[in-house]
Amino acid sequence: MKKTTLLFTVIAVFAAWNCSGDAKKKETVLSLAQESFQLSMPGMVKEVTTSLETKGVAETVVYCQSFSPEYMSGKEKELMKLFAKKHNLQAVSIGRTSLRTRNSSNTPDDIQKQILDAWAQSEQAGTKAAPTVEGKGKEYTAMIPIRIAGEACLKCHGPVDILDKEVRAKLAEAYPQDKAVGYSLGELRGAFYFKVLYR
Ligand code: HEC
Repeated sequence: MKKTTLLFTVIAVFAAWNCSGDAKKKETVLSLAQESFQLSMPGMVKEVTTSLETKGVAETVVYCQSFSPEYMSGKEKELMKLFAKKHNLQAVSIGRTSLRTRNSSNTPDDIQKQILDAWAQSEQAGTKAAPTVEGKGKEYTAMIPIRIAGEACLKCHGPVDILDKEVRAKLAEAYPQDKAVGYSLGELRGAFYFKVLYR
């Protein structure tokens, strides 16, 4: 009897210790995600805005890709390396996802979809989506909401009938499975994700 109690106590203490480790990691991952979002977001918005002004919408269509890993700037890559070294991470990946993707390679994985679904539900109930982190053990995903923040976004993600003809043609050609139109100002568009695997 005593032995069983001891065993339960040991398990409980271990579980609590383990949980607090997970909680601490979650906190770290969320703050790293925010740091990396702040580094990449303004650059991306600036790039899109400048290109809209100088080249026009149709020629800008490709620029909204800058969040994809292959478009990561040197600065972002450096930051990821630094995070990995400092926090003992085996892998870090960042990108964007949505319940209605333009590029199907941005399709959410299971955890990302869970978070996006929960956000959609809470938005419907009137509560704005907030940065969220999920995971346990070695694997964690943090997500930061991305909204249709300005009129510029609507030029490529607004209702189909307001899109420039040339833009529509370019999108149809490059993204035959485009689901990322029909948004309105302020609407939740998707998320920036930050996924890590601890060593
Ligand atoms: C000039 C056209 C254009 C503008 C302006 C634009 N986007 Fe995009 N957006 C795209 C394209 C093209 C993609 C697909 C990129 C890819 O291939 O990964 C995309 C993809 C995205 C994605 C990734 C998920 C997906 O659907 O594949 C998000 C999130 C997003 N855009 C948000 C925004 C927001 C927010 C704004 C305004 C700040 C904005 N976009 C402005 C063209 C645009």
